Amino acid sequence: MENLNSFLSDLINKYRSETSGATASYIPELSNVNHDLFALAVVTNKGEIYQAGDFNHKFTLQSASKPFIYGMALEEHGREFMRSRVGVEPSGEAFNSIVELEKNTHRPYNPMINSGAIAVSSFIQDKNTQKRLDRVLKMFSEYAGHDVTVDEAVFDSEKKTAHRNRSIAHLLRHFEIIGDDIEESLDLYFKQCSILFNTTDLAYMAATLANGGVQPKTQKQVIKKEFVPDMLSLMFTCGMYDSAGEWAYTVGLPAKSGVSGCLLAVVPGKLGIAAYSPLIDQQGHSVRSVMAIQELVEHCKLNIF
Ligand code: DON
Repeated sequence: MENLNSFLSDLINKYRSETSGATASYIPELSNVNHDLFALAVVTNKGEIYQAGDFNHKFTLQSASKPFIYGMALEEHGREFMRSRVGVEPSGEAFNSIVELEKNTHRPYNPMINSGAIAVSSFIQDKNTQKRLDRVLKMFSEYAGHDVTVDEAVFDSEKKTAHRNRSIAHLLRHFEIIGDDIEESLDLYFKQCSILFNTTDLAYMAATLANGGVQPKTQKQVIKKEFVPDMLSLMFTCGMYDSAGEWAYTVGLPAKSGVSGCLLAVVPGKLGIAAYSPLIDQQGHSVRSVMAIQELVEHCKLNIF
């Protein structure tokens, strides 16, 4: 692994010239970013760090938050409750699709798509909205290994334009998947999506899952070991939405993307990988991050199969 820093730099140099994709215009604030930004980081279970490019630049987690909130809800409510409300089946549809809610059981197909994730955030309960957010921030701080905050501008921007997510939440209420605190739960969901991380923090978060829930730097058990397989299997089958099959076939790792341009992948028992670059494809994945992680995994033979 000695040459990994220079290999990561080579990947940054190779793929920085790739300019396809666009920023997620449906959250206007996400467009106010330099398109050239690009970072890669790897953290091993032993806590060794490898990084290249703009790894200190902060971005919002967006959907990369979803598996971690699911883990938190599993700890709070257990598997039986969670499975009765949210499925574990890939949808084959876009991340923001509403159509599956009209089908079959009216449960969201899985916790990685917006419908499932909004339901999961509604299950994070406490005395009041602030306490709910405090707990979420505490958990993400533990994964990162230091305190993290919310980007209020991104939060406001998403809240103002979230007509589709608001429709999903009301349909979830109609089918009695979630309760009456629709706006509060949406706010919590938008806040978790607006948490600021840099690429190294994200690699620590991935490495914590690779390490059975123990954060490699702080050695704190952030999520119970028994729930890590739930999170990883859903990241593997559903984390990349309607290109989850393509990703599983070509990369072979549990992963999760966010529309800010972040992407994390987990090599269980070994290490966590993170990438960030803001231009995203039709499925909502960072174009440069997908290419760079694909090549990294091939080069280091990290595909779990
Ligand atoms: O709810 C949304 O649409 C965004 N806050 C998150 C979507 C997202 O990151 C999709 N993933 N790539």
